[in-house]
Amino acid sequence: MTATVVLGLAWGDEGKGRVCDALAADAGYVGRYSGGNNAGHTVRVGDEEFKVHLIPSGIVREGVICTIGNGVVVNPQVLEQEVEALEKRGVEVRSRLKVDGRAHLILPYHIRLDSHREKALGKAKIGTTNRGIGPAYEDKVSRVGIRVQDIFDEGILRTKLKAALREKNAIFEGIYGEEPFEVEELASYLLSFRDLLSPMVDDTGARLRRALDRGEQVLLEGAQATLLDNDHGTYPFVTSSNPSIGGACVGAGIPPRYLDRIVGVTKAYTTRVGDGPFPTELFDETGDRIREAGNEYGTTTGRPRRVGWLDLLAIKFSARLNGITHLAITLLDVLSAVEEVKICVGYEVEGRSTDEFPMSQTDLHHARPVYKTLPGWQEDITGCRMRGDLPEAAQEFVGFVEAEVGVPLCMISVGPEREQAIVEKIGA
Ligand code: GDP
Ligand code: IMO
Ligand code: MG
Repeated sequence: MTATVVLGLAWGDEGKGRVCDALAADAGYVGRYSGGNNAGHTVRVGDEEFKVHLIPSGIVREGVICTIGNGVVVNPQVLEQEVEALEKRGVEVRSRLKVDGRAHLILPYHIRLDSHREKALGKAKIGTTNRGIGPAYEDKVSRVGIRVQDIFDEGILRTKLKAALREKNAIFEGIYGEEPFEVEELASYLLSFRDLLSPMVDDTGARLRRALDRGEQVLLEGAQATLLDNDHGTYPFVTSSNPSIGGACVGAGIPPRYLDRIVGVTKAYTTRVGDGPFPTELFDETGDRIREAGNEYGTTTGRPRRVGWLDLLAIKFSARLNGITHLAITLLDVLSAVEEVKICVGYEVEGRSTDEFPMSQTDLHHARPVYKTLPGWQEDITGCRMRGDLPEAAQEFVGFVEAEVGVPLCMISVGPEREQAIVEKIGA
């Protein structure tokens, strides 16, 4: 039994999709365990580019069974669009996709609330993807959420919608002066997804546990990343789920003892979409150069991503928290665009030096990075397939990061395409 988890070590978009795609070659199952369609995972296969938001990127690998776990929040309309778009491109989805009946649904009122909340915060906004993620998880925790299985019991569906709308409509009418939502309209909207969902609804946790007991390989695909984790991230500038390792067990329904390999993914630099602290952020021409070379525009919202140097304090914090067994470094080729490469190895906080990622939000806001400067390389490295093919300076860079994080590298990606990677043995 081997479950492998792939998760992000920073603020998302580390290239989890492409790392999962590589590992999915040996997997029978690929499952999502947290988040929703706030995620955007890209897989490039030759000239084809696939961007998935809700469906695990393993769907691109023929024959792989994909699961959307109980910990995911599902917008049924987005699911339908994604299934249809993939099938139009010749990817068989319906027979290979399972959706947990316990997963909560994102409804139109969640999306409306998300945008009201952001407006109300003004300059202190979180910069959410406006996909209704936060409000959907709020309803889950406060026990007024509607779940995938409720679509199959009309009576319960109406009762639950009525209960949920009592408070929601008071907010929309009373605070925002808007029209209320109608129970019947929402019920028929949800019932319209019965045909799509009925062959997919499943106990995905039980399915994965059975597969593991048979000795099959299961890959869990993280969405968002550790520093966006609601408990461990840069709160309140986080998402509303637990992308870190604990969330993998809870959200996929797999006990910890099955998790053999935990692959932490980081870019060779750092990006962040949305607001919140980012000590190594670059506001200069170097940042612009990295943004352009890395095409750093959001997969989900198209927003330009904030760009900065690799932050070892952040990466080491996430590596320890998740207990990663392997490290993957992505977008190394992008650093060919700069003359020298910096890595943050410490912070100065109000006159104090530290090499620990601070727990205190105030400290993180005041943290000034201390850099180690390494020589750069200007060669095109997209053709490198072995570590020894890399220019010496690039080898020094990855060697330094690997030694600091203290776990072996299993992948160095040097371009967006499936083949553009140095893949090292990950063990049995
Ligand atoms: P995810 O959300 O973690 O799956 O990452 P995204 O797909 O949102 O963002 C990663 C972006 O980087 C995508 O556009 C990928 O195609 C691209 N990408 C992934 N690996 C590499 C790489 O090694 N080099 C380059 N240049 N681009 C890459
Ligand atoms: P993947 O899986 C990058 C960010 C948003 C915002 C914060 C909260 O592609 O790495 P939310 O809509 O979740 O309430 O927004 O989290 N965010 C992401 N940033 N990649 C993602 O997913 C993200 N999902 C959410 O930009 O700052
Ligand atoms: Mg992404």
